[in-house]
Amino acid sequence: FGALKGAGPNGAPLYLKLKRSIEEAVRRGVLLPGDALPSERDIAAKADISRVTVRKAVQDLVRDGLLVQRHGSGTFVARAVERVEQSLSLLTSFTEDMARRGKTLRSEWLDRGIYAPSPEEMMVLGLSPQESVARVSRLRIADGTPLAIERAALPAMALPDPTAVGSSLYAALEKTGSRPVRAIQRISAANLGAADARLLDLPTGTAGLHIERISYLASGKVVEFTRSIYRGDTYDFVAELRLGD
Ligand code: GLP
Repeated sequence: FGALKGAGPNGAPLYLKLKRSIEEAVRRGVLLPGDALPSERDIAAKADISRVTVRKAVQDLVRDGLLVQRHGSGTFVARAVERVEQSLSLLTSFTEDMARRGKTLRSEWLDRGIYAPSPEEMMVLGLSPQESVARVSRLRIADGTPLAIERAALPAMALPDPTAVGSSLYAALEKTGSRPVRAIQRISAANLGAADARLLDLPTGTAGLHIERISYLASGKVVEFTRSIYRGDTYDFVAELRLGD
C-alpha cells in the first residue's frame, strides 16, 4: 500500500482510503484468501500514516468479515471480495436478489411516511396535487456491507401505510395486490455526495451507479418511482443481447 495522503477522492479519511486499497488488493487477487496482511507497522511506514489509522481500517475489515485476526500470528485475508452479478432482464426485488445469493440482508430506514408529492413525483406517478405520496428510503446492507441506498416513491393508494413495510417493499405490495409487473430501469454514473458516501462507508466522490426504476402495474399505472445509488465497485449489470432484425 503506497503513500495514501492526497490519494483518491479528496476529503476522505485516511483509514477509509486504506480500507479501500486493501479491498482493491483482495479484489485484484494481489492478496488471496489465507494470505497474511503485512504488519501494522509495515503498512503504516509504507503508506506514511499512523498505526492508529491502520488499526482502524483493519478493525473495520475484520468487522466486515474480509479479514480475520489470529492471536499471536497476525491478520489474514478471510475471503475474496465478491462482485454481484445482476440480470437486467428480470423484475426482481432486492430481497429476492440477495436471498438467491445466500446473503443476509438487513435494511436501515432513512425515511418512511406519507407526504404531499413533489412536482416530479406528481408527473412520474401521475398524481394530482390533492393526492399523497408514500416515501420509503432505505440503506440496504448485505452480509454487513452497505450496498445501496434506495429512495422509493409510490402513490399512497398503493401503499397507504409505509410504516407497515417489513423487510421487503415488493412483499408489502404483493399483499395489497400492487406488485409491479413491468419496469423501466435507467442506469447512469454518479459520484457519491458526502451524505451518501457516509452511508455507504466510502470516500466522498467515489464512483457509484445511479439507478432509476419506474415500475408499472398490469393496468399500465405507475406504482413505483425509485432512485437508488449502488456501490460502483460491487455491481455488474448483465444483459443478454440478441441480433436485431
Ligand atoms: C430493487 C429495485 C427497487 C425496488 C426494490 C424492492 O432493489 N432497484 O426499485 O424498490 O428492489 O426490494 P425489496 O422488496 O427487497 O424492498
